[in-house]
Amino acid sequence: MAVSDFVPVHGNGNGNGALGGSRNGSASAQELIDLIVEHASRPMEEAQALPAEYYTSHALYELEVERIFKRDWLYVCRTDEVAEPGDWFAAEIAGEPLVLVRGKDRVIRAFSRVCPHRFMDILREDREEGREQGHAESFVCPYHSWSFNTEGALTGAPLMNRSTLFERERERGSYGLSEYATEVWNGFVFVNFDANAGPLAPRFAELEDVLAPYRLEEWKLLDRLDWPEVPATWKLAMDNGRECYHHQGAHKESIEPLWPAHLVDADTTDSEYFYYHRMFVDPNGATGEEDGHYIQPVVLPPLDGLTPYQRSHSLLVGIYPTMWFSPGPDVLLVAKWWPTGPDSHKFDLAVCVHESKLDHPDLETIRAETKEWLHQIQLEDARMVMGIQSMLGSDRAKQRGGALSHLERPMWTFQKYMAKRLAGLDV
Ligand code: FES
Ligand SMILES: [Fe+2]
Repeated sequence: MAVSDFVPVHGNGNGNGALGGSRNGSASAQELIDLIVEHASRPMEEAQALPAEYYTSHALYELEVERIFKRDWLYVCRTDEVAEPGDWFAAEIAGEPLVLVRGKDRVIRAFSRVCPHRFMDILREDREEGREQGHAESFVCPYHSWSFNTEGALTGAPLMNRSTLFERERERGSYGLSEYATEVWNGFVFVNFDANAGPLAPRFAELEDVLAPYRLEEWKLLDRLDWPEVPATWKLAMDNGRECYHHQGAHKESIEPLWPAHLVDADTTDSEYFYYHRMFVDPNGATGEEDGHYIQPVVLPPLDGLTPYQRSHSLLVGIYPTMWFSPGPDVLLVAKWWPTGPDSHKFDLAVCVHESKLDHPDLETIRAETKEWLHQIQLEDARMVMGIQSMLGSDRAKQRGGALSHLERPMWTFQKYMAKRLAGLDV
């Protein structure tokens, strides 16, 4: 069913954020969508966490795949991860196996990895061995050796010369790899399965001035924290990733001494596409003061041209549905979460540095220490997310959630995103 065909029913009428409950005791996807719309329609001061079934419903997850992951722009990797012609990056998003590849014309394209002959994964061997990046002059399907160039066109199909159907379809171009829309924004490569998707960049016009000083397209990948599949829904992980309120609890010994929750400025821009925070350094953790601003500690010399104000904090910019990035004076962090099913997800965190720092003599030590610090933080986050997941079966969690802090504002704006995507409503 298309979003435009969808006729929502408003409100559950009980006014306390709980589900009315259906006869078999579990909420239908429609009831959950109604509840999301009701929550999203409130003012921020009345914002409330959604109850457990929002997170656990498999029926709702199926709609999320159809209406979000098959329709919206999804971040995949940085441009420098496919820097040269033939460089590829593989991903599986919501059941769709993809490969991003830079063609000989230097354009980055996204293709389905499903072979147009009989549906083999053209990168089966690489994926079996855990490789998600590589370089290829062409792709050869491991099953019957049909081959494709880096622009996705079929270049060979052995022993097909007696098939008139093959000849006809090949002439029509039917046997190239299926291509999906891609767009590069600030060095981030996004993909969209919807051929009718509108452009991505205009969504972020309000962010241009905020991001301009960081020259984000010039940052290069230093390392990645690749995390095993987490047995918790992507929505719990994303909620956690979007708010700095938990610095004082989950990260009280790691992040809180650097970026305390009470000094986080949660921007009040109302956007259905993004949010951003400024995480200011704790004066006790600052390396000094310039022009009235406490200066954030750095592991590398700060980016040229940043003002003392810009060196007093790191930004946290979230792009719905599944990524954020955090530019600071010296390091750019890029996080993404992909559902691998209704109750599990994959997490990936990239550490990038400005290209002018790539020859820094201590880069290897900095890389290792930064990765270790991030590993510790991700352990703290994963513990919280899995802890909540284990509570979702309880009767109490099924009733209603609590009020949201102003620092949890992106959870409320994400409710609006969900209302728009799942119900076609602007609330
Ligand atoms: S399935 Fe790929 S060549 Fe047959
Ligand atoms: Fe966290």
